[in-house]
Amino acid sequence: MNSTSGADPADAVRVWRGLADTCVLLDGFHAIKHALRFGARVPAALTSDRAGVLALADELAPDVRQALEALLAPVDDERLRALVPRLHPTAVAALAERPSRDGNLEALGRLPRAAPVIVLDDPRNLGNAGAVIRLAAGFGATGVVTTGTLDPWHPTVVRGGAGLHFATAVERMEVAALPPGPVFALDAEGEDIRGLKLPDDAVLAFGSERSGLSAALRERADHLVSLPMRPQVSSYNLATSVGMTLFHWSAGSPPGAGGPPGPQA
Ligand SMILES: C[S@@+](CC[C@H](N)C(=O)[O-])C[C@H]1O[C@@H](n2cnc3c(N)ncnc32)[C@H](O)[C@@H]1O
Repeated sequence: MNSTSGADPADAVRVWRGLADTCVLLDGFHAIKHALRFGARVPAALTSDRAGVLALADELAPDVRQALEALLAPVDDERLRALVPRLHPTAVAALAERPSRDGNLEALGRLPRAAPVIVLDDPRNLGNAGAVIRLAAGFGATGVVTTGTLDPWHPTVVRGGAGLHFATAVERMEVAALPPGPVFALDAEGEDIRGLKLPDDAVLAFGSERSGLSAALRERADHLVSLPMRPQVSSYNLATSVGMTLFHWSAGSPPGAGGPPGPQA
């Protein structure tokens, strides 16, 4: 695969155009930083403020400074905005190769599993899906599976995920093909989560923003679980529900005893 590394601006733009249809857009410094940290292959990175981006790396992410220095091709702001219409304020964008579906399916299906898989059953809101991928990455979840029509690699989802699609396995699947493991489906009518320990091999399933869990998912569920909520409140936001559930799972293992990674040093 071609790369913009070391290319002059015109060549770098040509390489970008050749890759843009097949690669994932990483928009802004933080998305690129996360993708590099979690092993994404990044063949193209353009910036109209190379010095500013490297200064940010010095300040916030010295671990990726060298990689960025080798990658970043300078282009003028007008050219960059023509390629990336809603350019991030950090004036940098990159293209990453999407991880293979086969590799992700293998990671999602592997047992034993050290951390749950999150299932979003027919989610509708791209921002919610991105926020959930970010949560899954932070808690070290095995992956995020979506059912239904939403593409979890849609550019808006990738933007919401802050480049963390590369830190977990993200794929779309049918309910009938979900990864193995006991399914704990979250629903306001379920059993109170506070009385339950969620196992590491759990498949944690959440319903759509509009209509909740589908009939197919309810059928596949081993447990229906609720989050504490005062009467007269009908439901929580989807991503918020995932956050609470992952926190409950994490609280089941004391720090250092397996479970999710500890806080950043
Ligand atoms: C916005 S809610 C969906 C509300 C939808 N109108 C319904 O009928 O369920 C999206 C998802 O978040 C989860 N959720 C929201 N509030 C919850 C609660 N109190 N207990 C368990 N899950 C909840 C469920 O998985 C739900 O399907």
